Amino acid sequence: MLVSAKEMLEKAAKGGYAVAQININNLEWTKAVLETVEEMRSPVILGVSEGAGKYMGGYKTVVGMVNGLLTELNITVPVALHLDHGSYEGAKKTIEAGFSSVMFDGSHYPIAENIEKTKELVDICNKLGLSLEAEVGSIGGEEDGVVGGGEVASPEECKMIADLGVTMLAAGIGNIHGKYPANWQGLRFDVLEKIKALTGDMPLVLHGGTGIPADMIQKAISLGVAKINVNTECQLSFAAATRKYIEEGKDLEGKGFDPRKLLKPGYEAIKATVREKITLFGSANKA
Ligand code: 13P
Repeated sequence: MLVSAKEMLEKAAKGGYAVAQININNLEWTKAVLETVEEMRSPVILGVSEGAGKYMGGYKTVVGMVNGLLTELNITVPVALHLDHGSYEGAKKTIEAGFSSVMFDGSHYPIAENIEKTKELVDICNKLGLSLEAEVGSIGGEEDGVVGGGEVASPEECKMIADLGVTMLAAGIGNIHGKYPANWQGLRFDVLEKIKALTGDMPLVLHGGTGIPADMIQKAISLGVAKINVNTECQLSFAAATRKYIEEGKDLEGKGFDPRKLLKPGYEAIKATVREKITLFGSANKA
């Protein structure tokens, strides 16, 4: 059964580790993530962007697929199904479809409007027992065609949004989705410390988990980050493994064209990436 992300994140924040949000794109991806977290006894948050939801045939399809896998694969670790960077309308649609957690990304609105919309969603999520992530200060890079400038969040604005009663807060601290440019200045730990000082026990979320060096990840966790999002790294490992399989010519031989064979190296590659992230974030055996 899907669960809200609230309890797993509060445990992570207290326990000094982070829960991975792994974004999913298809059946193989989802199965690979669920099997790996079950093996490692780790909680997980399955992230679905609005674009990925559309690609997979709509939010209800995603809910059906994930719930089916939880039952058929006998998954016993806590799993939340979470909308990633949701619009206000997208948040409402996923709630209706049966997601157990949503992110409302109002970071591009003026702060007053971000507060107003986030507050409305806090009330809805509280009534239904769902977790809600809010964002302050847009994350850099491109996601689903939206390019964020990589703002650094204002700690005071973070406090205003945290005080609305959200479950978790994503704050821009120089992090970027996807690959990091060679001249990247690194995470703004000074800002993270100020945000933590003002928001207390609020679990903080670090987006753009792909290109952040391991030492920065560990420092961020030590300063209150309890959830780290990973998307691009799984896409890169899936694509590289599939390309290798095709280049070796195996897809042209015998039954190599069978999608169950063609997609297997990518599925194995995702398992390896998830294993690596769970180990780095410290959430193994915390289920
Ligand atoms: P990456 O694509 O950099 O892993 O970031 C994922 C993310 O933050 C999704 O919200």
